[in-house]
Amino acid sequence: MAGVVKNLLETLHITSSDKEAPPREPTADEVKELREKYEKAGQEHVFAFYDELDISGKAFLFDQLSTFDPDRINTLADKALKPTKSSEEPPSLEPLPDSATASLLDAPQDKKDEWYKSGLGHISENKVAVVLMAGGQGTRLGSSDPKGCFDIGLPSKKSLFQVQAERIKKVQELAAKHAGLESAKEPIVPWYVMTSGPTRKPTEKFFQDNEYFGLEKENVIIFEQGVLPCISNDGKILLESKSKVAVAPDGNGGIYQALLTSGVRGDMEKRGIEHIHAYCVDNCLVKVADPVFIGFSSSKKADIATKVVRKRAANESVGLIVQKNGKPDVVEYSEIDKETAEAKDGSDLLKFRAANIVNHYYSFKFLQSIEEWADKLPHHVARKKIPYVDPENGETIKPEKPNGIKLEQFVFDVFPFLSLDEFACLEVDRKEEFSPLKNARGTGEDDPDTSKQDIMEQGARWLKEAGAVVVSEGSATGVEVSPLISYGGEGLGYLNEREIRAPAVIEKTKDEK
Ligand code: UTP
Repeated sequence: MAGVVKNLLETLHITSSDKEAPPREPTADEVKELREKYEKAGQEHVFAFYDELDISGKAFLFDQLSTFDPDRINTLADKALKPTKSSEEPPSLEPLPDSATASLLDAPQDKKDEWYKSGLGHISENKVAVVLMAGGQGTRLGSSDPKGCFDIGLPSKKSLFQVQAERIKKVQELAAKHAGLESAKEPIVPWYVMTSGPTRKPTEKFFQDNEYFGLEKENVIIFEQGVLPCISNDGKILLESKSKVAVAPDGNGGIYQALLTSGVRGDMEKRGIEHIHAYCVDNCLVKVADPVFIGFSSSKKADIATKVVRKRAANESVGLIVQKNGKPDVVEYSEIDKETAEAKDGSDLLKFRAANIVNHYYSFKFLQSIEEWADKLPHHVARKKIPYVDPENGETIKPEKPNGIKLEQFVFDVFPFLSLDEFACLEVDRKEEFSPLKNARGTGEDDPDTSKQDIMEQGARWLKEAGAVVVSEGSATGVEVSPLISYGGEGLGYLNEREIRAPAVIEKTKDEK
């Protein structure tokens, strides 16, 4: 119950710290009841230090333990640690049928224009929202701040959050223009930002310190996904300290429960939202609330649609969007054999080439059924080194090798709940739409330098297409085009025949130049 109240308060920025009463020591009866539940589940060691804690420690641990059902944790851990070997036949894999797919690489321009205009139309009617998945801990990147706060080294020093916020501002403006609305009537694309225990507070502070990057505070809704306890290799809940269970976000698939418990779905309903774009924080090229994608997905009447990029080579280790036993699904690179990975279709392209970039469309209608299936999403295991307190002696142990697991749901595990005609897939141009920030600087792949370079090269391409001459001096290349000037390369005609010396930033409109 405490958790539920907290979630409701947290909706629409009311943080628990605004409302929190001083800690109350749980009564002896309350503790007895909870302790028995954990004893029955064989997890009583989480109370090992309870009696020696001060009031706030007791209140915290009690509250935290009350939010979990130890029997359910045991079931999840059991399934994850001792998976039953499937005796089923190998699945039948096929690419999605043509009826469910389209490609921006070869679609006729008039089709793309039609989707674009239709998407802008939906935005202009205030029917489009975006959900940002920003609850990950970004361990590979190694920054202590949430990934969205990261400065990838653009000349403007903009963070990923700022770039995305400005794309929302711009697309609202484009939609207003498309529909002939006055600027005072500019539509709103509410931005629902999913955080987690570790990323919530710093994300909120970053948005506050930066005044929501020019968006209205009431249209930036920061909410929090759930966590699950970390489990030792022998199935025991791990304690991070004497008064705290070690927990980790429940994966980006936690989005579905979080949309419910945080009140976000209710807020969407109140606003009359019909189309939702959900994406990952770390894709610096993401077209937030992309009108083309919204238009495409709604024209297909899809419940879920997904963007993919073309797999670069048979051995690229990416997940693939396929039909598996007749249902839309994702297969991991490790799940397909060499022959399947290398198979070609009639046009000499890889038969299985639809690389998953975790960039989705949902109809609001579909999100109304979350209660029916969210519980059925499987939990995946991530083996990790998890520091813990030894319940025998209270010592903190920092393990050298993986000693336990984190349980995660994946956002795309919902795909097989749909039939093929409820699902659609749009292939997009990788260099225009996908460059993820995963690794620390210097890795040379999906790191801050590749993110920066991909944005700068895109800007230079847009300028050249608009007739500008981009001159590179030495090793400096590329141009950063502010999203406030151009969302997808449009509106740059005023730079025709202008010479731009790279590296440069285009942040002034025609009228301001
Ligand atoms: P990743 O799986 O790449 O994880 O997330 P990560 O946390 O960013 O990085 P590593 O693996 O720790 O290095 C893909 C997307 O899913 C979000 C992330 O924020 C990112 O946008 N995500 C991940 C969540 O929102 N919640 C989670 O629990 C996990």
